[in-house]
Amino acid sequence: MKLLSGSLNDDCIILPLWQKGEHTPDFKDKNFDLRAVQASKDFKADEGEVLFVYPEKGAKRLLLLGMGKKEEMTPERYRRAYATATKAANSKKIKTLTLMDYNKAIAEGIALANYAFDTYKTEKRSLIEAVSLLKATPKNLAEFARVFTVFEGVYAARNMVNLNADDMTPAHLAAFAEKLSGPHIKVHVHDKIWLKKKGLNLLLAVSKGSVVDPALIVIEYRGDAKSKENTMVVGKGVTYDTGGLNLKTEMGDMKCDMAGAAAALGLIVAAKGVALKKNITVIIPTTENAISGASYKQGDVYTSYLGKTVEIDNTDAEGRLILADALAWGNKEYKPTRIIDMATLTGGVVVAFAEEVTGLMSNDEALAGKIQTASARTFERVWPLPLYDEFKDLLKSDIADIKNCGSKGASSIKGGIFLKEFVGDTPWAHLDIAGTAYLDGEKRYLPKGATGVGVRLLMDFLENE
Ligand code: BES
Ligand code: MN
Ligand code: ZN
Repeated sequence: MKLLSGSLNDDCIILPLWQKGEHTPDFKDKNFDLRAVQASKDFKADEGEVLFVYPEKGAKRLLLLGMGKKEEMTPERYRRAYATATKAANSKKIKTLTLMDYNKAIAEGIALANYAFDTYKTEKRSLIEAVSLLKATPKNLAEFARVFTVFEGVYAARNMVNLNADDMTPAHLAAFAEKLSGPHIKVHVHDKIWLKKKGLNLLLAVSKGSVVDPALIVIEYRGDAKSKENTMVVGKGVTYDTGGLNLKTEMGDMKCDMAGAAAALGLIVAAKGVALKKNITVIIPTTENAISGASYKQGDVYTSYLGKTVEIDNTDAEGRLILADALAWGNKEYKPTRIIDMATLTGGVVVAFAEEVTGLMSNDEALAGKIQTASARTFERVWPLPLYDEFKDLLKSDIADIKNCGSKGASSIKGGIFLKEFVGDTPWAHLDIAGTAYLDGEKRYLPKGATGVGVRLLMDFLENE
């Protein structure tokens, strides 16, 4: 997104209008003659209301944007209002939006809505290419620029998830990661031979049925050489989830199963873009969960990297398997001060929270609290689920140390309970993004399909803790 300094001759000026009473706009003090609009009573300045007007003089096109009541304003309402304006402008194929009001949430609202996944469309949809600021301060400009830079990470995550599974395989994820390397960013891609040598047998087991090779991708982002703090971010990278031999009956959306990996990569895009002064270690276990004669089988027992043995009682609970090895290996190798994993782990989180909320599970209240604070600021909502010891009984196995699925009930929690076994005493939080990463339909400022959830949340967490 380009940033320009605006003029009254611009293509489309957004004029935010507040209400002074119930459905009564406050038209005073504007540089434009809006008497005709006022007389028509067509515009009430209700929240998110949009009306294009074409004044005879002063400006080419005004987008009157209803803001509701000023006393009730929140950042999220700014996001929604400006997202609505952005979509209206996109429908008119407007390329430059001119603003007279600035805050971070306004920039976010525009950026959130200004996205279309058109890789496979012959005709591309029209998007805003520049935002032009009337009488902005250098601080306003810097804030806008920073938001748009962070969104490069959000869009990267969305695009990776939306691509065909065959266009975003483990090798593609690895190639994307490798392109991020730079002065303070080292990237390692560990292949199948390395996985065998090191004993990441759970990741190898899941990958057995696939014609594409698995990998463990590592990114060492070192933005603060002086600090010993190191946040390990682990992202589930199942590039397609058929369920394996416990074959799914519905798998139309299962290219989304690498959304955790995409968010982790998007986070590094954003961190690099703004030169974030933090240390982050990204670990991505990646594979397909495919079905073939070579598939891993229900009833089999595998020895994890950590040494714990795991009975596979459902080949469709593959995410926790590959994450377990990644968590245990990363924890041992990097000794991070804390760990956050993001994974489209369970359908259960959709049962609990629909597509509105990410499930948060953690062994550390302070860490969970900081993530909830970032969640409130970004409106990437999370809500905690408990990991009581008693839930461990649900994963008891007769032939191994633990099983990966267990009897019915507490589906999302069992995922968290399983992962908890592989992080030792390191403060850790698990984000189950199965509901929030990929939407059935367009919602407010979020597109149908991939949302890029997690990028803004973790950026905010790292920037503002
Ligand atoms: N990738 C799925 C979870 C999922 C569901 C992601 C819906 C996105 C939308 C995961 O691997 C899975 O299959 N989970 C199973 C676990 C069960 C077999 C224990 C589930 O939730 O049904
Ligand atoms: Mn699965
Ligand atoms: Zn899965």
